[in-house]
Amino acid sequence: MKIGRGNAIGKIILLGEHSVVYGEPALAIPFPSTNVETSIFKSNGLGVLNCIYYMGELVETPDILLGLTEVIKGITEKFKEDYKKLNIDIKSTIPPERGMGSSAAVAVATIRGLYDYFDEALSDDELLKWVNISERIIHGNPSGIDAMITSRGEPLLYIRNQPFKPFEISIGGYLIVGDTGVKGKTKEAVEAVAKFIEKTPEEGRSLIKELGLITRTGMEKIKEKNINDFGQLMFKAHQILIEIGVSDSNLNTLVDTAVENGALGAKLTGGGRGGCMIALADNKEEAYSISEALIRKGAKNTWISEI
Ligand code: MEV
Repeated sequence: MKIGRGNAIGKIILLGEHSVVYGEPALAIPFPSTNVETSIFKSNGLGVLNCIYYMGELVETPDILLGLTEVIKGITEKFKEDYKKLNIDIKSTIPPERGMGSSAAVAVATIRGLYDYFDEALSDDELLKWVNISERIIHGNPSGIDAMITSRGEPLLYIRNQPFKPFEISIGGYLIVGDTGVKGKTKEAVEAVAKFIEKTPEEGRSLIKELGLITRTGMEKIKEKNINDFGQLMFKAHQILIEIGVSDSNLNTLVDTAVENGALGAKLTGGGRGGCMIALADNKEEAYSISEALIRKGAKNTWISEI
């Protein structure tokens, strides 16, 4: 029996979330500690979708999966198959709705799986087109960074509607990701920032510009391998993300805990209002001791990765 298979990995935004929606740059890296695998095979009857949110017939999928089901329908239609006759099995270690690119990565793995199932070549542009369809349904007005980073799988400097720029990162440190365990709501957070800018346009725009400047400076610091300055930029970015209303007490507690335990920098990552934070340590021992402190302060999970 033909089984189509597709993979994707999660992502972390180092700097530039939210301001990237307004044309400022963002720095994002793939995060291989978390991944998604999709398998697709023909069903004898009505096809079933099996994923973290839902296990049941494809024709009955809940609204939360609308982005994904639209893409599944679109691709099967393109290859003249009936989507209702496919079994789709999605296994993911990316915690959903935590700012780690889960929705985009699930879409990437499933699109790759479908093209593999149909034995069709999939270009980068075609992949991105489909992921963006799903992301727009889920997030409303996404900058496109999640779609781009999860489909490319390499560190990127991303500016909306401009060609992305891959970059190399070997800053000689460790990144700790701490999960508050609380679902983040990217769509709501993006809408809240839009309201903030509408209400206080001068302050709003200047904070977005400041985040943009921090990200550009961050890119320079990565090139210079200046981990201390990069850490300072993370703190600064977090303070502005608080001001524009996308942090919360859980995230702030974990950021403060990281600082108290010797992190060189710490901030929320992704949409905020729940979700994950990141911290930077200059060696493995410190990374583990920060990770333990985060767990003691209520983090539901942590990941450590060398950058
Ligand atoms: C979400 O990972 C990043 C945000 O900037 C939203 C977006 O860019 O679409 C919060």
